[in-house]
Amino acid sequence: MTSSQPLSGRTAIVTGASSGIGRAIAETLGRAGAHVFLAGRTVAAMESSCKQIEEAGGRAEAITADVRDPAQVRSLVDRAVLKTGRLDIMVNNAGVSFPAPILEGDPEEWRTMLETNILALLVGCQAGALAMRKCGAEGHIVNISSIAAQRPDSGVYGSTKHAVNAISATLRRELEEDSIRVVNVMPGAIATNFARNFDSTFIAGFVKMAGLDIEVKQGERLPDQVFASLSEKLKQMLGDPEDVAKVVLYAVTQPIHVNLADIVVRPPKQLNL
Ligand SMILES: NC(=O)c1ccc[n+]([C@@H]2O[C@H](COP(=O)([O-])OP(=O)(O)OC[C@H]3O[C@@H](n4cnc5c(N)ncnc54)[C@H](OP(=O)(O)O)[C@@H]3O)[C@@H](O)[C@H]2O)c1
Repeated sequence: MTSSQPLSGRTAIVTGASSGIGRAIAETLGRAGAHVFLAGRTVAAMESSCKQIEEAGGRAEAITADVRDPAQVRSLVDRAVLKTGRLDIMVNNAGVSFPAPILEGDPEEWRTMLETNILALLVGCQAGALAMRKCGAEGHIVNISSIAAQRPDSGVYGSTKHAVNAISATLRRELEEDSIRVVNVMPGAIATNFARNFDSTFIAGFVKMAGLDIEVKQGERLPDQVFASLSEKLKQMLGDPEDVAKVVLYAVTQPIHVNLADIVVRPPKQLNL
């Protein structure tokens, strides 16, 4: 193990690795020497990350999976273990937000948030922890929550992140006697495709603030250069996904008797998510 490759010989899974925070975490863990399994529904974006990790001397594989289906999450863990014989880091990152008020909300959008943000994370925690136990890993489960979990009135999305905090705390307790730590990360506003389901005028406002002239369509991803420009020009209120990835790398490279339990990582100005 060298200081530039602290995760050499370790296996990591990152869900929601095709965009934003998950992609940055996957690339950072890969550069640090982990064999990374990237999971998401958009394979092209993950293949480009795999290429980048491999060019830096690492190992990475893209797996198309819809994490709302528990069987697909379990099979993701099985594939990583089958291929590498182990699992050391499970990052439950995939998440979505539909910000409508409760009185105007669509139950199908609520279902998508509940299944992606809570159910998939729970199955990832369970399958990940059992696999780590089986191979005797000094493992880390990393759950991506949100600063929305710090406010009582953060909507249906915020409720899912309150649940993530409760799940992380409960699992941490359940794993006290194991060599598996649970890290709960609460990002503030970060420049990603997170707001893709928000009203397009909201996103268009940010794109304009960043001095860019790009058409915004609700539900669609924006090109990468928009985020690079946004996080550079609006540094005070929009963090870079790399900021979160560095924190995750720090947490998973601590000795196993150190548990960085809850981490808030945010830009200086707070936007309520
Ligand atoms: N950006 C922020 O301001 C912010 C702040 C606090 C917390 N967070 C949290 O950070 C996490 C990552 O979000 P982000 O900001 O990076 O947003 P993003 O750019 O929209 O990325 C979300 C990721 O989740 C994946 N995903 C969504 N539904 C999925 C499904 N059913 N199956 C598999 N993958 C799925 C997406 O991949 P595909 O679409 O390819 O499937 C994508 O890779 C989320 O949990 C979010 O709640 C974000």
